[in-house]
Amino acid sequence: MIRVVAVDGPAGSGKSTVSQAVATALGLAVLDTGAMYRVVTLAALEAGVDLDDGAALGDLARTAALDLDGGVRLDGRDVRDAIRGPEVTAAVSRVSAHPAVREVLVARQREWATTRGGGVVEGRDIGTVVFPDAPLKIYLTADEVERARRRQRDETAADRTADVRTVAADLARRDRMDATRAASPLTAAADAVVVDTTAMTREEVVAHVVELAHRHLGPAA
Ligand code: DC
Repeated sequence: MIRVVAVDGPAGSGKSTVSQAVATALGLAVLDTGAMYRVVTLAALEAGVDLDDGAALGDLARTAALDLDGGVRLDGRDVRDAIRGPEVTAAVSRVSAHPAVREVLVARQREWATTRGGGVVEGRDIGTVVFPDAPLKIYLTADEVERARRRQRDETAADRTADVRTVAADLARRDRMDATRAASPLTAAADAVVVDTTAMTREEVVAHVVELAHRHLGPAA
């Protein structure tokens, strides 16, 4: 069984922060699959590809030199900041709704975990589609107001201006698109452990997930 901790949930639920900390605690690598969809979106915007053209976007996902080890690179360029900008954030749900794009990126995600013997993988469809046999699936949630507050804090920390109402509207729009799309919609797997982080500190969430991982994951090979 592949030692994958699948971490899914809506934007602002704390997935990235928690996944990083859990991976460090367990000595596993971490994969941010949202960053992959964001890189493809950035490449599409830069190349002027029609965001409704699934086949063209699938080709782009296949040919883009996408590297997520030690930063985020597109064709050798550091795009860590560019993929968090407002243009990419506004367009990423449209791009990630195309089955042709998902097919390519899901294959890469499986390959990433196989070559490492596992890891912490975070996204929207990790426990449902990418690793349906993962020994531990976590679904993080938090109420909308708290998620908007957290995202606004992230944006401000990254020197991007963020009005909390704009952030909340963007989160609600993306959640709606991500949860209602036909291909791999955001939803908790039937066997996921749902963790509502609204009233929890980051440390509490991490400790809870690490404890679950010790119970569910087999010993390292
Ligand atoms: O986690 P994030 O906000 O960086 O993700 C950006 C977008 O990518 C999100 O709105 C939906 C999409 N996504 C997806 O469809 N499937 C994943 N496994 C991860 C992200």
